[in-house]
Amino acid sequence: MQRILITGATGNIGKHVVSGLKALGKEVRIGQRNRSDDPEATFLDLSDPSSYDNALLGISRLFLLRPPAISNTSKTLNVLIDKAYSQGIEHIVFVSVSGAESNSLVPHHAVEQKLIKSGRSYTILRPGFFSQNLESAYRMDILNDSCLYLPSGRGQINFIDTRDIAAVAVQALVNPEVHARRAYTLAGKDALTFYDVANLLSLELNRQIKYREASAFSYFIHLLRQGDPIMKAFIQTILHVGIRSGQANIISSTASELLARETITMGEYVHENREKWLC
Ligand SMILES: NC(=O)c1ccc[n+]([C@@H]2O[C@H](COP(=O)([O-])OP(=O)(O)OC[C@H]3O[C@@H](n4cnc5c(N)ncnc54)[C@H](OP(=O)(O)O)[C@@H]3O)[C@@H](O)[C@H]2O)c1
Repeated sequence: MQRILITGATGNIGKHVVSGLKALGKEVRIGQRNRSDDPEATFLDLSDPSSYDNALLGISRLFLLRPPAISNTSKTLNVLIDKAYSQGIEHIVFVSVSGAESNSLVPHHAVEQKLIKSGRSYTILRPGFFSQNLESAYRMDILNDSCLYLPSGRGQINFIDTRDIAAVAVQALVNPEVHARRAYTLAGKDALTFYDVANLLSLELNRQIKYREASAFSYFIHLLRQGDPIMKAFIQTILHVGIRSGQANIISSTASELLARETITMGEYVHENREKWLC
């Protein structure tokens, strides 16, 4: 039986990959940095290559996620990829980010290059901005200041729900022969500005949520004050400023075609999760 190692299993995408695979009766192994007695779990600190060999034992497929705090992927994730292929792993599904193929500033770029040049079997997922950022990166601004504070101007974003990304990942893990050496840009159907998102939140929560446009510099400082490490704040600033020039306005029906259904809209997501932004 195939045993699939899942990284980032407690995160926005990974938790749905785990449940999606289990629903299909697949055997999963959860690679986590907290040591645990759970027989499904194995110790794997992605920032520490000495933990890789043991975590890869008996694994045939790998779901690979770059944790946001890891910026040097050449010395971490790429080492894991080398070890995985040399230990006989047959397929790797990697969560990248839209545009990473032509943007060497984002840490995912080096990982994509590694996979593409490996000559082995992989699937690269390139999602746009997650709807779930509203419950993670933007949540405290919504709760504390009733605002979205971002340097994204009036740029449009085709948000994608992480449940849809996970569902595509599950397909690629279960049927690698169909998805081998493919890279999928994943985006939702609707193109929304942050003004539109603020309106959706305001209507759902019955209180006014404003979008306040930030400068790149003030947003960077805002992230540092929130406690983000400097590289993470830098990458987040680059990605959010890129929205202004249309980098997140991604016209792609790949997700809905692969899933054979409509993708989950921002409106649906906000409605289902409204309690997350109630004061
Ligand atoms: N947010 C967006 O709009 C967006 C868009 C496109 C692409 N992306 C990319 O998507 C990825 C983030 O995905 P996500 O939101 O699903 O993740 P997430 O919710 O931020 O969760 C990160 C996961 O990584 C684990 N982790 C953190 N450090 C680790 C370490 N040193 N070793 C092992 N595991 C570690 C965490 O486990 P713990 O339980 O131990 O913390 C958690 O399970 C990033 O690469 C990001 O660039 C994001």
